[in-house]
Amino acid sequence: MDINSKSIWEYNTNNNNYKTLNSDINTDICIIGGGIAGINIAYKLYKNNLNFIVLEKNKICNKTTKYSTAKITAQHGLIYYNIKQKYGLSIARKYLNSNLKSIEEYKKIISNENIDCDFETCDSIIFTQDINRKKDIENEYKCLRSIGYTSVEILDNETILPNIKYSIKFKNQAKFNPVKYTYTLSNLFNEKIYEYANVKNIKRRNNKYIIYANNNKIICNKVILCTHFPIKDIPGFYFVKMYQDTSYAIAVNIKDTDFKNVYLNLDNPTISIRTAKIDNNNILIVGGNNTKTGDTALEKKYEFLENIAKQIAPNCKILDRWSTQDCMTLDQIPYIGKFSNFMPNFYITTGFNKWGFTTSIIASNIILNKILGNKTEIDDTFFSTRVHPIKNINKLYYNINQSVQSIFLNKFKIKKEILDKIPNDTGRIIKINNKKIGIYKDINGKIFKVHPYCSHLKCVLTFNAEDKTWDCPCHGSRFDIYGNILNSPANINIHIE
Ligand SMILES: Cc1cc2nc3c(=O)[nH]c(=O)nc-3n(C[C@H](O)[C@H](O)[C@H](O)COP(=O)(O)OP(=O)(O)OC[C@H]3O[C@@H](n4cnc5c(N)ncnc54)[C@H](O)[C@@H]3O)c2cc1C
Ligand code: FES
Repeated sequence: MDINSKSIWEYNTNNNNYKTLNSDINTDICIIGGGIAGINIAYKLYKNNLNFIVLEKNKICNKTTKYSTAKITAQHGLIYYNIKQKYGLSIARKYLNSNLKSIEEYKKIISNENIDCDFETCDSIIFTQDINRKKDIENEYKCLRSIGYTSVEILDNETILPNIKYSIKFKNQAKFNPVKYTYTLSNLFNEKIYEYANVKNIKRRNNKYIIYANNNKIICNKVILCTHFPIKDIPGFYFVKMYQDTSYAIAVNIKDTDFKNVYLNLDNPTISIRTAKIDNNNILIVGGNNTKTGDTALEKKYEFLENIAKQIAPNCKILDRWSTQDCMTLDQIPYIGKFSNFMPNFYITTGFNKWGFTTSIIASNIILNKILGNKTEIDDTFFSTRVHPIKNINKLYYNINQSVQSIFLNKFKIKKEILDKIPNDTGRIIKINNKKIGIYKDINGKIFKVHPYCSHLKCVLTFNAEDKTWDCPCHGSRFDIYGNILNSPANINIHIE
């Protein structure tokens, strides 16, 4: 069977069609972005009878959310010991409890709205094959107990892969099908959703926001930006305090799903494991092997995952493979709340650090309360205008350095190469007639050209040989070999006519 380059969640889902935007609209609240964050927030506004619309550039649930592994857990790596060290016990406790509450909230929403999305309770396990990580697991365990969490256990017999040395389990977490969930939930307020509504600009005038999408204007009092990476740079400056990280995933067929828990390792390369049932077929999903978006050391990403899958299910066959990226903050806590102190009634939710399912529910609660004029006890845990991450000076320097180096490359001549000398199935930046051009030569020698500068802030792109995409090392935009945008924050294609 051929391997599809598509997400396993695309099968057997009801592909709703929503309205397209073809007139100007006046509304109270405008949500921009129809992924899990936008839709979970929209649901809260709908339940509170608020006047809102959702603008989605493409089809809803067609970006990061669709390509995730869809575990619903408060076990976000070994995060609690770090949060406690950085921000204290109280913030670590609030982070844990709000994420645990999100799992309960999913159960309620799914039951109240009668959503068929293969939701299943299971345990979440983090393991290491590195003998030197014992202390890290112990520190995490002690920290969790000290903040009052009792559903955590250190295991000494985990065997999902060979040579596991240590592991730690959170009981009663969950997993589901993210596309089935999002489609069914959004059906409740389908008349509020506009697809293929590409927001190009947002301005403030006379205490109102004017949103320019396609050829129309939306005039509203409040904006909620759920575009994954923010499409507005200033004054939020999220592009300085965030980067994107790409993970790879494969889905293979297996005989039976004799394990139902979800797994993640602590080591490098990362490995994420879960099972799912799609159309009555048992599927094993192996993900991970992540790298900062735009890094060039990308070889054999899928092969590594296939080897892991074969250790679990020796005769399995790959059905699908895909990659996607998420926004990473410098202190591992998402940004949820005010976009900036200078923009009233303008809210943001981003930087989910690959844990967007529980944290988007948290976002829906914080932002709903902000709109209703209430404070929540977790505002201080997730607040988006914080500058603490700047204290993570090494990562900040790394972010800025990569941007500066990449922008700087524009000023130097890249060694001229002759088109004919580029091997097949290779991407390169070359100079033709004094102009730099990104060239991809496919397996048959056909040439595809792009402008090799990112249309966001003009960083030089790198070629991702695994996925055949042009990736930006600065803030993670991605483009296909034709120059079409695959991933924000860039919002303009890089075609060469
Ligand atoms: C490989 C991988 C595995 C993951 N697994 C898990 C997991 O197991 N558990 C977990 O909790 N999290 C996981 N995550 C993280 C999770 O998938 C994300 O955090 C979450 O899906 C992000 O949701 P979102 O709504 O912010 O973004 P998206 O789903 O990307 O939605 C953003 C939407 O905004 C739209 N948009 C962008 N620009 C515009 C514009 N100009 N105008 C209008 N609309 C616009 C986009 O088209 C898109 O539909 C994983 C992430 C990755 C990369
Ligand atoms: S994503 Fe910002 S310059 Fe490319």
